[in-house]
Amino acid sequence: MRSFKTIATIAAGAALALSMTACSSSRDTTTEPGDDSSASTATSGGDLIGISMPTQSLERWNKDGAHLDDLLKQDGYETIVQFADNKPDQQISQIQNMINSGASVLVIAAIDGTTLSTVLEQAASQDITIIAYDRLINDTENVDYYATFDNYEVGQLQGNYIVDQLNLDDPATTGPFNLEPFAGSPDDNNARFFFSGAWDVLKPYVDSGKFVCPSNKCPASNDDWTQIGIQGWTTATAQSEMQNRLNSFYTGGAKVDVVLSPNDSLALGIEQALDGAGYTPGVDWPIVTGQDADEANVKNMLIDKQSMTVWKDTRTLGDQVAKMVDEIMTGAEVSVNDTETYDNGVKVVPTYLLPPQTVTKDTIESTLVQSGYYTADQLGI
Ligand code: BGC
Repeated sequence: MRSFKTIATIAAGAALALSMTACSSSRDTTTEPGDDSSASTATSGGDLIGISMPTQSLERWNKDGAHLDDLLKQDGYETIVQFADNKPDQQISQIQNMINSGASVLVIAAIDGTTLSTVLEQAASQDITIIAYDRLINDTENVDYYATFDNYEVGQLQGNYIVDQLNLDDPATTGPFNLEPFAGSPDDNNARFFFSGAWDVLKPYVDSGKFVCPSNKCPASNDDWTQIGIQGWTTATAQSEMQNRLNSFYTGGAKVDVVLSPNDSLALGIEQALDGAGYTPGVDWPIVTGQDADEANVKNMLIDKQSMTVWKDTRTLGDQVAKMVDEIMTGAEVSVNDTETYDNGVKVVPTYLLPPQTVTKDTIESTLVQSGYYTADQLGI
């Protein structure tokens, strides 16, 4: 563990941090949603790590931000943690603040990676190391490392779960089953990987006729996923899209059998729409997939409104990124385990990939609870 180093210029940074927001330590600033901190004067501190998260409106990013912040502080670093309310401009100005505050490393979970080129150029000109967190940042050479869960595998787990549940590989299973696919936010690079992973599994069954798509929203190829993407990953948009599909294409007794949802925030909206349309868990409720093991969704799994979630233990991602930060700061070799997959359009970014995991109602206890991710009390079990 590193010892805490006092930085000569801390006073300037501390003054800045205090002016940004109420905070608990000299340069530890955690902003609230919508808080758009203004730029600051430069300092030359060497142990400051900036953590830029997309939003506090989704449970996972709060957990990600808090955990990484804790680890880095335990390692003796100062931190700035900011959440950008899903607004790319706000994220740019927050990163600008971190650069001006003298950050040595920036850990960024981008809202729209393509908007960050200019600010990252500025960071690179000041020798700041950039780690893309969870989401790759495209179209820039100024991203040094990437740490994430295997995004393609997330989609594969969702697709394989559906195939297994419906026993689609059994020649006796002919269906056809009504499938409604959704995809994530078109500006999020991960969404493409999630969809490709799932569609590589599911599309053959669309082609063979075991699946039909009453709404006609089954993309002809993996590249067409953006047409079913839900901008900003919002629950409300997913809900209204599902309501539209149900109202328009499921009249006269037709029922949806499967909803491919890439994550839990969308699944929640889809489940609300199913509720509103009179579907009953255990009777005619369709298979609904998800990702993130958000509390509300895990609770829905317990009452059979969601079939599975792909759990990405954000603590392990935080652990890995804190390790990479420390390796960068101490001049050690930075641990990566994939140097081929993640081409950001300019270069292949050295990546550390973590394995995602399927969780179903039957494994909530043995995974989420036993690992301490949730207490049984929290989940009401
Ligand atoms: C993350 C998912 C998350 C989604 C919405 C993606 O980039 O990998 O875990 O559900 O963003 O925030």
